[in-house]
Amino acid sequence: MNLMERLGLTKPVVLAPMAGGFGTPELVGAVSNAGSLGSSGAAYLTPEQIREVGRAIRERTDRAFNLNLFAPHALPDISEEQTVIAIDELAPMHAALDLPTPSLPEKVQEDFQAQFEAVLDVRPAVFSFAFGRVDTALLENLRQCGILSIGTATSPVEARRLEADGVDAVVVQGGAAGGHRGGWMQDDLADTLHLVRETVQVVRIPVVAAGGLMTRQHVRAALDAGASLAQCGTAFLRAHEAGTSAAHRQALAQADAGDTTLTTSFSGRPARGLRNLVTEQVQQPLPYPYQNALTRQMRNAAAQQGRPEFLNLWAGVGAWEGREGSAADILASLCP
Ligand SMILES: Cc1cc2nc3c(=O)[nH]c(=O)nc-3n(C[C@H](O)[C@H](O)[C@H](O)COP(=O)(O)O)c2cc1C
Repeated sequence: MNLMERLGLTKPVVLAPMAGGFGTPELVGAVSNAGSLGSSGAAYLTPEQIREVGRAIRERTDRAFNLNLFAPHALPDISEEQTVIAIDELAPMHAALDLPTPSLPEKVQEDFQAQFEAVLDVRPAVFSFAFGRVDTALLENLRQCGILSIGTATSPVEARRLEADGVDAVVVQGGAAGGHRGGWMQDDLADTLHLVRETVQVVRIPVVAAGGLMTRQHVRAALDAGASLAQCGTAFLRAHEAGTSAAHRQALAQADAGDTTLTTSFSGRPARGLRNLVTEQVQQPLPYPYQNALTRQMRNAAAQQGRPEFLNLWAGVGAWEGREGSAADILASLCP
């Protein structure tokens, strides 16, 4: 399948889905209108919010766009003792932000099935997902609705599993990528181009390259390696239309090569971001999604109060190559 033709794209770039308010409907609409595939990271949204975001995107574009969720997992077991330790680690940070001692909310994640039904209602051209596999019956639902499905792999083995499940295409995420690691098996943080070359040998579905693609030369190299499209996240974090907080934008503008790290401190799942007080000091996080729920209040307050040391400063290895500008300008700088 030719993904560009099927989706009516004129540029071989995908705006990466970025859950957490980065990929606003304005950003998604601007990217889709410019001939690429805009994506909205909807993993943390309620079903009603997903429907609202769908409407907001449709008000801005009649072109193809993508909604993205995290594949469902059973909640892990956590002990009282673990929870106390995790809370103790965050308590001084809460105090510094004038927040009460952290506590676990009753609801630590959204109900995937209800989110998925909201996605079907919105009927985007594409549904993508990360963190694992989804039921083959759901992939069939998508097909019947004419929605293209894209899974996320961090290795050729994962890509093959997703293909066997019946996805239409696969994103391969190299180790340089910003944000959460999207796979579920062993993750060797592979070089993006190497991962593309290896994966196109073992799957027949189209492969989308992700991780560290910050320039048109990078995108060209990913396509030359065999990718059908290039998915870029960090490159768009400083777009005028993005929902990135002022503190995060400033940290990105000052980022140097080598400033990112893989951390579980914010969510309990490995994610790449700029090193700060939290990545250095939070050593015993709860597993995902508990830690994510436990740090939400701190992250929101830090963004509001302009305190980057307490913020999840998601960024890929290439953050230092990023630039500020309109989504259309940034997109033009990425197109070979
Ligand atoms: C701020 C941020 C949030 C992200 N959130 C998601 C997400 O919700 N779903 C997803 O599949 N990938 C997410 N990712 C990963 C991207 O899909 C992609 O793999 C990554 O941005 C590519 O690397 P780059 O950041 O170097 O361009 C996120 C990335 C960033 C930077």
